[in-house]
Amino acid sequence: MGAKSSPPPRKQNAVPPKPLPFAPRSKPKPVPRPTVASPARAAPELSKNAQKFRRFGLWGALACAAFGGAYMVPLAVSMFNPESLPYPVPEDASDRYDRTAKTYDETVGASEKSIGVDRLRRKLVGQAEGHVLEVSAGTGPSLAHYNFKKVRSLTLLDQSAPMVEIARQKWNELKQRDEVAGRKSGNVEFRVQSAFDPIEEPKHEKDEKVEEPGKFDTVVQAHGLCSTAQPERLLHRLGQVVTRDGKILLLEHGYSYFGWLNLSLDRNAPVRADKYGCWWNKDIGAIVRNSGLEIVKISRPWYHLGTTWWIELRRNVEAEQEQRPRIEAEVQPKERVAAMAQQQEAGQKRGWLW
Ligand SMILES: C[S@@+](CC[C@H](N)C(=O)[O-])C[C@H]1O[C@@H](n2cnc3c(N)ncnc32)[C@H](O)[C@@H]1O
Repeated sequence: MGAKSSPPPRKQNAVPPKPLPFAPRSKPKPVPRPTVASPARAAPELSKNAQKFRRFGLWGALACAAFGGAYMVPLAVSMFNPESLPYPVPEDASDRYDRTAKTYDETVGASEKSIGVDRLRRKLVGQAEGHVLEVSAGTGPSLAHYNFKKVRSLTLLDQSAPMVEIARQKWNELKQRDEVAGRKSGNVEFRVQSAFDPIEEPKHEKDEKVEEPGKFDTVVQAHGLCSTAQPERLLHRLGQVVTRDGKILLLEHGYSYFGWLNLSLDRNAPVRADKYGCWWNKDIGAIVRNSGLEIVKISRPWYHLGTTWWIELRRNVEAEQEQRPRIEAEVQPKERVAAMAQQQEAGQKRGWLW
């Protein structure tokens, strides 16, 4: 056997050898070295998170479906099956509250809770401070939400005696169960009177320095504009009893962002007003703009399609004086009844597509 001969040296310009059929065509990418946050170690963590998100998503979807059902189903029913009445309903139907006071919390109150109004109310009322006046207070659903660490006195006012009686009972129960926020439940007063009548000043403590006698630091109203025939005048009135830097906090309901929904509200408004005393088809934005008060904030939660109005106002002394003659001459309810009857008749005749 001869000695192994070494391969001849490659020539510089020689043709490169053909790649083998099984060889990778491109250069393999470098495999990253595992680090502390390497995929191999983070994988179980990620999948746990993913599971959590999936579970949240599922619950979220279920909650949305339940909420949507509570809000949208009655709406859809009333849209396609509007009820009508053989007689016109007066614009001031607030006498209904005397009749419905006993069942108000079970009917209206319960449905409000299911669509999240109670949560909004809690947030709104939580901003009240100093001497507080709540107008159109009804059965007192806001009572449990006041923070008596900030509230020096609370005056609840409503023109319906049966509604106020329930509010009073509710307050006594809250006190007995010791469920008053701030644990100081002293200065609460209930008054049966119209907000248009003179409103007595809050109860001051003995040595309290009173800068603006007769005025309240915060005025609250939830769902009051729907129940009066003179909503602009009512707002103007609230401006007269709040201090210069005081807050007017409103939670109201009325027209939506959507024309189709407003049409439904219009069509069903007389039946609802006749039953509950509240006209749910008011243009709250226009009422507020015409009130002579300064708008600090308006927000309309998307999930009520713009029908719920959270509003903060304060006094605007110049605009107040300018608007006063017009607002005080606001057309009186009796004169409006005929116009309302005509409107209602026209509303019943209107079809969905024309
Ligand atoms: C829809 S209820 C709202 C009650 C309560 N604020 C709530 O959120 O459940 C409207 C209330 O406004 C009251 N109201 C209507 N006009 C009023 C007025 N001019 N002065 C005082 N209260 C009035 C009615 O008696 C009724 O209790």
